[in-house]
Amino acid sequence: MLTKLPFDAAIDLESLQKRTSEKWRHYPADVLPVFVAESDFPLAEPIAQRLRAAIDSGDLGYAQPLGLGEAYASFAQQRYGLTVDPADVHALPEVMVGVAEILRAISALGGFGDEVIINTPVYPPFFSTIQEAGWTISDAPLRRDGTRFALDFDAVEARMRDGARVLLLCSPHNPVGRVHTSEELRELAALAQRYSVIVLSDEIHAPLVLPGATFAPFSAVANGYGITSVTITSASKGWNTAGLKCAIAIGSDDASRELLRRLPNAMTERTGHLGVHATIAAFTEGIPYLDIVVAHLDGMRAQLRYIFDRAGLNAIRFTPPDAGYLAWLDCTALGLDHPAATFYKRGKVALNPGTAFGKAYPQWVRFNFATSTAIVEEAARRMSTALTQTG
Ligand SMILES: Cc1ncc(COP(=O)(O)O)c(C=O)c1O
Repeated sequence: MLTKLPFDAAIDLESLQKRTSEKWRHYPADVLPVFVAESDFPLAEPIAQRLRAAIDSGDLGYAQPLGLGEAYASFAQQRYGLTVDPADVHALPEVMVGVAEILRAISALGGFGDEVIINTPVYPPFFSTIQEAGWTISDAPLRRDGTRFALDFDAVEARMRDGARVLLLCSPHNPVGRVHTSEELRELAALAQRYSVIVLSDEIHAPLVLPGATFAPFSAVANGYGITSVTITSASKGWNTAGLKCAIAIGSDDASRELLRRLPNAMTERTGHLGVHATIAAFTEGIPYLDIVVAHLDGMRAQLRYIFDRAGLNAIRFTPPDAGYLAWLDCTALGLDHPAATFYKRGKVALNPGTAFGKAYPQWVRFNFATSTAIVEEAARRMSTALTQTG
């Protein structure tokens, strides 16, 4: 059964096609994009108002992130029950720039080209960013826990024992949508303590934790273990502001504070000033909007199976995510060589190919459902058409 979701009436394909962002311009106009993690939701009004005010007053100079720390501290307290000292919050242009620069800062303190543990399948820029910073990848793949993916502590420990010095955690996890439990994060923190591993926790999807899951910020868990951890996050997924270039890194122990002090001044200078405005508005006045986003995604997650089945996509397997708007689809039963390429070429619908997230996933695709029911139905229809055509 389909339900009317909060943003359904506000989203229309013709208006979206006038957008000029990556999602709407990467492929030709006749391709329906459900790939990159941008949402199709209308902009939150408090953000729109703040951006309009900045433009109207010509406030378009270099970023001066006054108020950013306080804004995040109030959000973290309200949303996660986490106490953050605003002085521990540092502005960055992007989450991944932050990861690269923190790795460089760790290198500068001694050692270069060490290994960073990741848990595939995982957000593709994890691979490139680690390499860009001069480190190498040490994969501890997620394990299958029934139909769900979860951290594999044996694999993580083996990589740590092999000498990896950093773990880049994706929490919540993209693309599998897992919210790691606090027990799991404690186990991870205990391993990090035993092997002196620094944990960088990418919590960009945390504002989008959906009903049924409880998000634990890694810094809160790490507290009792005396380990070094940095949290990196932004408002860009919850409020769809990725193009405005503003993220934050938060230190929560002496060593991580020292690392963040070593970040180049250019980090703040390269942060987008409009991004700072938008992020402050999101974290302080954007919670009612975020609640609507979460309700919409929760509803979409609940009807995705029905939409796929009704389109004849019964053979696609997926487990609804705990957080976010990405569905990680197992297309093995379709018997295709390249599922994403087939959907694109024959159905004119763009999804992310699984191999971008880990080489063990040629039969998987990632589907972005942060849109209207009508557009998700159209994407499913196109995927289904692709399966009935040949050539
Ligand atoms: C886990 C994860 N980290 C980072 C990013 C990108 O963040 P940024 O554009 O701020 O680097 C994304 C975007 O989808 C993501 O899913």
